[in-house]
Amino acid sequence: MGNTKTAVLTGGSAGIGAAIRRDLLAAGYTVINLDLNPCDQTHSALQTLHIDVSDLGQVRSAAAKIAAAHHVTTLIHNAGALRSALIANVKQEDLDFLMRLHVGALVALGQAFIPAMTRAGFGRIVTLTTRAILGLETRTAYSASKAAQVGLTRTWALELGPSGITVNAVAPGPIVTDQFRSVIPAGDPRNEAVAQRLPVRRLGTPEDISRVVMFLADEKAGFITGQTWFVCGGASLGAMSYS
Ligand SMILES: NC(=O)c1ccc[n+]([C@@H]2O[C@H](COP(=O)([O-])OP(=O)(O)OC[C@H]3O[C@@H](n4cnc5c(N)ncnc54)[C@H](O)[C@@H]3O)[C@@H](O)[C@H]2O)c1
Repeated sequence: MGNTKTAVLTGGSAGIGAAIRRDLLAAGYTVINLDLNPCDQTHSALQTLHIDVSDLGQVRSAAAKIAAAHHVTTLIHNAGALRSALIANVKQEDLDFLMRLHVGALVALGQAFIPAMTRAGFGRIVTLTTRAILGLETRTAYSASKAAQVGLTRTWALELGPSGITVNAVAPGPIVTDQFRSVIPAGDPRNEAVAQRLPVRRLGTPEDISRVVMFLADEKAGFITGQTWFVCGGASLGAMSYS
């Protein structure tokens, strides 16, 4: 049975976004992928627009064109980046960049698609935050801009719930993707060391995250809103142990 839903997905060409893109297509969604980089999948229901999601002019113009041509039911803001530095070296330009990419783009996309969702009385918005919002050395700009998504998620849930629109955040722990590999390369013994510090004793996969995004995007998940779902192998739990 065909799904008549249309999802706008940012960063759907690689990593976690690629898993979400594949799962959305398999579930019958039409997918509009906004990514800097090309996508290796060809599918009749997939369109990739090459834009820089940190450039809000580009985002607004692409979103206006999409909103004029499609009824977007589902918005998934997954594109993200790290700008790692200890506090002494944090640059204002990195803070500004990540605030545009993680928060500004979400606001611009939301403003473009929420009116039609409201008219239809249905919408699903899911944003990719991070376990690092609980604190992680060198992640000042990253954790601050991702924590801002959580405040936005809770606020939009309040404002949009009466219109049938749910808004949730997913907070991944370490997931093996290009972003993770930029921190810990393949073959580095820290891969195993990080895995052994997690309660589940393994690193995550993009599919671990996509599964939860798909659940929250489902029409039947309408009683869940304003929540942050930690999908992190237990990395969000306290580290204290008497054993
Ligand atoms: N991998 C992890 O361990 C991890 C952990 C917590 C949170 N996250 C978050 O999950 C999301 C996906 O992460 P990932 O690991 O798959 O990242 P990734 O770097 O492997 O892939 C990111 C995708 O987004 C695209 N992208 C990045 N910046 C863009 C921009 N300015 N404009 C358009 N497209 C852009 C890239 O081209 C790529 O296709 C990010 O928001 C990230 O912060 C990842």
